[in-house]
Amino acid sequence: MRLSVIGTGYVGLTAAACFAKIGHQVIGVDNDPKKISLLKEGKIPIYEPKLEDIVKEEMAKGRLAFTTEIAEGVKNSQIVFIAVGTPPKETGEPDLSAVENVARQIGENMVDYLLIVEKSTVPVKTGEWIKRTIERYNKKKIPFDVASNPEFLREGRAVDDFLSPDRIVIGCETTRAKELLLEVYKPLNSKILVTNLESAELIKHASNAFLAMKISFINAVAIVCEAVKANIKEVADGVGLDKRIGRDFLDAGIGYGGFCFPKDLDAFIKISEELGYDFRLLKVVREINNEMRERLIKKAKEVLWNLRDKKIGVLGLSFKPDTDDMRFAPSIDIISRLIAEGAKVLAYDPKAMEKAREVLPGINYCQSPYEVCQDADCLLILTEWEEFKHLDLKRVKALLKLPVIIDGRNIFDPKVMAKLGFIYRGVGWGY
Ligand code: UGA
Repeated sequence: MRLSVIGTGYVGLTAAACFAKIGHQVIGVDNDPKKISLLKEGKIPIYEPKLEDIVKEEMAKGRLAFTTEIAEGVKNSQIVFIAVGTPPKETGEPDLSAVENVARQIGENMVDYLLIVEKSTVPVKTGEWIKRTIERYNKKKIPFDVASNPEFLREGRAVDDFLSPDRIVIGCETTRAKELLLEVYKPLNSKILVTNLESAELIKHASNAFLAMKISFINAVAIVCEAVKANIKEVADGVGLDKRIGRDFLDAGIGYGGFCFPKDLDAFIKISEELGYDFRLLKVVREINNEMRERLIKKAKEVLWNLRDKKIGVLGLSFKPDTDDMRFAPSIDIISRLIAEGAKVLAYDPKAMEKAREVLPGINYCQSPYEVCQDADCLLILTEWEEFKHLDLKRVKALLKLPVIIDGRNIFDPKVMAKLGFIYRGVGWGY
């Protein structure tokens, strides 16, 4: 099939490359000429495992091309996927002006029946707005359908999530739209749920909100664990063994970040409010998440007393491992607070340092985790990169000025750390 994907961010680029990989003819469209010229050279502007190879392979096979012109994509496709950014505004609502702009241009450039699919995460009722916008600019009254096909991929595992999804959700209003989308996804042989437009839009927000709720729930339990002799990992394992609950997303720590959960939660709270419901539960989820960052700093102060002029080493900056994404990373809040308290911060991240420099200019970036430890009063672990789990801890201890590790991701065993002579504080260990 001939497809276009408008927007080549994490979701759009993964979708475009993977659609080509499963045999479709795909045009990736983006209004950023720098991004497009990079992509045309077979290079990708983000770190995402496996993605660059697929982009190169599919371009070589002639199944994937890139352009800055929406018209080119629209005129050469049966289906256009909208995957442009929906960044949060100050108010918490997502800024949907890029979606509107794309919808207008689609309306102006349609030449034949077209299925327009929203893939960006958007609040319920956006599909309705896309339809209205296209109708306004579609002067020749060319027939079209609008559908919702939310994406559930995780950064760092985007390709695998796209090619082996738990489910594919298709929200549509006509049989024609449904059949076209079923055909697109046929090669994946996956479980497909067909719903109406509004349900599909809500499934996306509700899924992310539920996962965020699981994280805040386990973080709240972790706080209680710290007050007694309990171990959050054992508690999470015990709770997670119940098939109705499941162990995934029950890892306590400094909470969620990234460009999805924080903004989707805000957006879901906001749209619920507009629809007449005060989604109090999600407001508390958000509060607990923010509290976890504060608690980490408090733990550092409990050991070090004042932070002024203390040298603090930070391992991990990206919002989670296997990505260079710094958007809404807990490390930004935590490091900004450390700097505000007068601490000197040294940091290392395997992939995110280039992006981190843009948002965290006032710190020293190091070439290795060991360089971070050199003479530091304390080491903070903010992202659970695999590399950190295999550190030579004797070397770390010898390098640190004081053997203090505050671990925001619980990557070590507190008993082992105590034996090695560290003052080790994780999240949710009452001993
Ligand atoms: C999330 C969802 O998992 C995807 O299904 C969804 O498609 C995506 O948002 C999106 O809306 O586009 P992502 O933001 O890539 O994916 O990252 P996750 O792996 O879900 O992690 C989110 C945050 O939660 C990270 O900061 C991670 O460290 C934190 N987390 C995750 C925990 O603190 N504890 C856990 O047990 C799990």
